[in-house]
Amino acid sequence: MAVKIDGKAIAAAVRAEVRAEAEAMTKQGNTPGLAVILVGDDPASRVYVNNKKKACAEAGIYSEEFTLPAETTQEELLALVEELNNRKDIHGILCQLPLPKHLDDKAVIAAISPEKDVDAFHAANVGHILIGDYTFLPCTPAGVMELLHRTDISVEGKQCVVIGRSNIVGKPMAMLLLHENATVTICHSRTQNLKEVCRGADVLVAAVGRAGFVTPDMVKPGAVVIDVGINRNAEGKLCGDVDPAVEEVAGYITPVPGGVGPMTIAMLLKNTITAAKALTK
Ligand code: GUN
Repeated sequence: MAVKIDGKAIAAAVRAEVRAEAEAMTKQGNTPGLAVILVGDDPASRVYVNNKKKACAEAGIYSEEFTLPAETTQEELLALVEELNNRKDIHGILCQLPLPKHLDDKAVIAAISPEKDVDAFHAANVGHILIGDYTFLPCTPAGVMELLHRTDISVEGKQCVVIGRSNIVGKPMAMLLLHENATVTICHSRTQNLKEVCRGADVLVAAVGRAGFVTPDMVKPGAVVIDVGINRNAEGKLCGDVDPAVEEVAGYITPVPGGVGPMTIAMLLKNTITAAKALTK
């Protein structure tokens, strides 16, 4: 039976560290500030934004929400980003994705000052990650690395398989594992022999977005299985990309909820502190 990696507890430890840093900065008159932009009324995005604001409040980080109607134009959104780029009290800018279809998310990400890009989505920050010289790490992959570090799991020399090649999770995840000397394979919808490739993994990261995608026959006995998925099953229950029966085969596993999810927000807070420190130096 796999050991469950308690993301909730590890995220709480990270958040306590962030809080101490935020308090020290506030004492010096430099309260870290995060701007959160939400366009439209996607219910999942609403929940994520509420969680991010609540986490900021608990960590002593100032947050300001900008809720824009779904009909907002590209020009209006870019004007807001520009205004926030110039605000001295705002050190991090996050535009919650996905945006309504008529808006160009790439142009919005490109408009955010790289120094305030706490999501690490800007091409400049992606490039820094690729060459291993980074200020911000994208929150979800960084959260996964933090879970591994704080569970004393080293990936050095290990076979790591990432299922999913998104710009937000799969690609940067592979880079962070590579920087720690893992042998990394990225799998995707066109991968042949997916089951065999996954069965070779010492560390298997699932970022597919499909409930129960990873089944026990895809997992090497004793492997570390990291479940990045946040899906709803037919009954509306929150579940990951990994079939719960994998617990019988894996050595370690992250639960959903309570695994990677809480780490994503903890790392966003950490990035906001990093940005605030750099901008108030
Ligand atoms: N939508 C889903 N995940 C994320 C995230 O990490 N950041 C932003 N900005 N939007 C998202």
